[in-house]
Parts: sequence; structure tokens; C-alpha cells
Amino acid sequence: MDTSTLQHKKVKLECLNAEERRAHAKETYAQKSYFQTLFNADEVNLSCKEHALQFQAEINRLVTEKNILPTIVSLESMHQYIGDELTAYDFTHGVNKLSSYFYQTDDHFKKVYHQFIRFLRNEIVKEPFLFQATPTIRLHCPKAINANLYPRYHSDIFYGHPPEEFNIWIPLTPKLGGHGFSIMSVDESKTELNKFNYDFAEFVGSATHDRSFSAHCESVAHAVEANLGEMFLFDSRCIHSGEPLKEHTRVSIDIRLLPLSQYQKMTVEYRGTGRLKILFELGHCYHELNSDQL
Ligand SMILES: [Fe+2]
Repeated sequence: MDTSTLQHKKVKLECLNAEERRAHAKETYAQKSYFQTLFNADEVNLSCKEHALQFQAEINRLVTEKNILPTIVSLESMHQYIGDELTAYDFTHGVNKLSSYFYQTDDHFKKVYHQFIRFLRNEIVKEPFLFQATPTIRLHCPKAINANLYPRYHSDIFYGHPPEEFNIWIPLTPKLGGHGFSIMSVDESKTELNKFNYDFAEFVGSATHDRSFSAHCESVAHAVEANLGEMFLFDSRCIHSGEPLKEHTRVSIDIRLLPLSQYQKMTVEYRGTGRLKILFELGHCYHELNSDQL
């Protein structure tokens, strides 16, 4: 089916008033998700060894080609060779300069990424899906300036993503003392959201600025345990956060998928609340081609 010609009559999320948004959020969390039906769980670790190693090699290649380092070192030891100005987090977005080097990749990286998308289509998701056009590459270093900005508990839905998506997170460094990534179940997420009457902005405000609530979220969440060579898939409604790294650099890639069947049923048009205000539509956040057209 040519999805580019599909006409959706969608309501823009930003046009809903506060009460309608809360009702929509509550309904979203009340349903059994596509992810839960597919995996019978809120989260799952699955093997993707060949692809994880390919991604790892790609990051190593880009580190030298972008002149971040003159030679290849193990990714988990990168912090030993780079300065604080690259590892420090900015206050507004909690992003470090090191990760921003990877906003742009190249054709070879895209080829590796599209091979991974085909693997997901053939082995994991048994139907066509839309996928994030540009995967998010993150590099977090231990003892970074402003590391106390983390944790920042959230679900991507709180920042405008469609709840019909699901998340895939791939570690490209070994777990060592922990990946610095924690997550709640859907039920735990519901319990926390209920305290804010499903007002996402209020939740994010407290999780970001109220240290005791942030500590509470930490106590509820559990550490992501995927080993290098595995990927961690989760229901997009799960509240999660990065945590400061202790001893090693953690490199990871995350992407979001949206099954075509879900996309076709969506009645709301979603737009990101971040700097780019990106639209979650084909040819915008998602690649212009779906998995089966790639
Ligand atoms: Fe997230």
C-alpha cells in the first residue's frame, strides 16, 4: 500500500485543551498496547549481536573521521581521552557536545541502519512499520559537568511522541557498573501519572525540579540489563531516564517504530515539544519510506 497518499483526518494534539489532553492521556494508559500484544510484556531484551557490533564499528569510524579522537579507543574508555567541554551537559536540553557530533552521520552509517531496519522487519515485527529517519546516538561520560541534571524521568509521549510507537534501545558499550538507564513498568508509570491526574507537563516539572520526587522515581524504576549484543525494546508509555554514569562511557542508539496498522488508525496528529517541534509523520520524524519500501 502506498502510505504517502493516505489521507488522515487528524486532530492536532496542540489543539486539545488541558482537560481533553488529560482524558486522551488517561485513555492511552488504560489500553493494552500493540507492544504488549506483540511481546506479552512491557519490555524485552532480544539478541541483535551482528547489528550491535556493526553499529559499534560505525561509531568508532565516525569518532576518528569527525576528528573527535585521532585513533580508535574502546568506546567505554572514551572519557579518558576527551575534554570536559565535550562531555558537559547543557542546562536546557541535557545534551552534551559529544553527542551533537552525531546528529549528522553519512551514507555508510545509513546503510548499516537500514540493514538493521530490515532485520527488525524480518525477525521481530511481523508487519510493515514506519521508523525514525535518523536514529538518536548518545554518548554519556562519567563525572561530566552538570551530570546532576539527571535523572530526568519521562516518557517520550510526554514530549509529544505518539503512544502507538515503541522504543528500541541498543547499548554499544558493555554494561560494566550499569548502563545508567532505568525504567518503570506501564503499571508503575500509571501509578506515578495518577498523582498528577495525567498532566504530563506537571509530571515533567516535578521529575525535573523536585529532588525528592526524582529520588522516588529512581526507587520505583529498575535498571535496564541488556548486554552488549542485545537490544532493549519497551512500551513507549514506560517512564524512564538516563542516570549519571559512574566509571565508564556509555554509547547507545535509540530509535522508535510505528507499526503501519497503528499509524493508519491514529486520530491525533502528534508534534514534538522540543527545539525542532518535529512532526511525527512520514517524511518528517519518520523516514519517507516504510520498512517494506526500503
Ligand atoms: Fe526517552
